[in-house]
Amino acid sequence: MFSQAEELFERISQDNEVLRVFKFHSYRVMHFASLLAEEVQCLDEDMRVASLLHDIGKMGLSKDILLKPAKLDPLEFEIIKAHSHIGNNILRKTLNAPRAALFVRDHHERWDGKGYPRGLSGEQISLQGRIISICDAFDTMTIDRRNYDKQTLTFEKAFEELRNCSWGQFDGDLVEAFITVIGKLQLSDPSLWFDKLDKIEEVLSPQAKKS
Ligand SMILES: [Fe+2]
Ligand SMILES: [Fe+2]
Repeated sequence: MFSQAEELFERISQDNEVLRVFKFHSYRVMHFASLLAEEVQCLDEDMRVASLLHDIGKMGLSKDILLKPAKLDPLEFEIIKAHSHIGNNILRKTLNAPRAALFVRDHHERWDGKGYPRGLSGEQISLQGRIISICDAFDTMTIDRRNYDKQTLTFEKAFEELRNCSWGQFDGDLVEAFITVIGKLQLSDPSLWFDKLDKIEEVLSPQAKKS
């Protein structure tokens, strides 16, 4: 199923301007999420599919809104929020992957219940959804902000920021596990590898390279 999901993603991200922008973000999130999932022993195919396709629901959305450098107004934010729901539908109906669909649906839920689309809290949110949420935020803070023309944070600062948001936005135990696992990678300057698939794999999945 992963190869089917990857093929779908590749096909869409060649044609769709928005997903093309998010393509490398999606691959990085998949690698981060796979490492964290492995650490907490929930890595499987659904986890990999969901993390790669977590933002696939953005493909129908206006790029003026998605890539808007300024703060979104309330209506624009409502529109953005639809991508969790659309992604859920695509995974269920097109890929016939209902379990992975649930993880995609949950990737913007927050531990304190203030997320979307359902306002789930704590362990009501799938473990995998909680994992993707941390990896997504980390990538956005450290690398993906270039799409929004904002200053990126260093990896160290981003770890701090994740900790600041523990037990509010994020599952604090998962944040600690993430920092342990990703800290070990001793990541280098992302501008050297962030937009090359083979480099992303080499940097974020060194084990896969060796075996
Ligand atoms: Fe998202
Ligand atoms: Fe994302």
